[in-house]
Amino acid sequence: MISKKMEGALNGQIQEEFYSAYLYLSMSAWFETKNLKGFANWMKIQNLEEQMHAIKIFDYINERGGNVQLQNINKPQNEWNSPLEAFEAAYKHEQHISGCFNDLVHLAMEEKDRASQIFLDWFVNEQVEEEATADEIVQQLRIIGDNGHGLLMIDRELGARVFTPPAQSDKNA
Ligand code: FEO
Repeated sequence: MISKKMEGALNGQIQEEFYSAYLYLSMSAWFETKNLKGFANWMKIQNLEEQMHAIKIFDYINERGGNVQLQNINKPQNEWNSPLEAFEAAYKHEQHISGCFNDLVHLAMEEKDRASQIFLDWFVNEQVEEEATADEIVQQLRIIGDNGHGLLMIDRELGARVFTPPAQSDKNA
């Protein structure tokens, strides 16, 4: 059985993950309007990954005999001044999410909830990757500056990203 405090905090994180999905889907729509299909594809896949994160927490709460309570999801920003500005916002958002998971780990320690600590380890590791990936794209966009050719090269690269759903039996993926 999970504590009410831990249950509430994890429900809050489901909301954060769905907001992340919403934000990246909004960015995908904005990139579509700029005809940057590769960027749009990358963001759409990011949206799917965030939904998967939310479902992972959803399943965990249920598995621990808790009660999932879905919350409102705020309207995300829907316009940015440049691809760089959008990716800077994505990077900043991922740093915020990393902070959320650190707080959740501290709460799990306070609650002496070892199972939640182990469960949260996956997300802590995932966040290292999420931040590094967003930061790498920010750095590339800074290097190319106003170079349209460079932008199209990155667009082509991001267009190659595919979504791989986790295997049903693999709860740690
Ligand atoms: Fe679910 Fe991008 O963190």
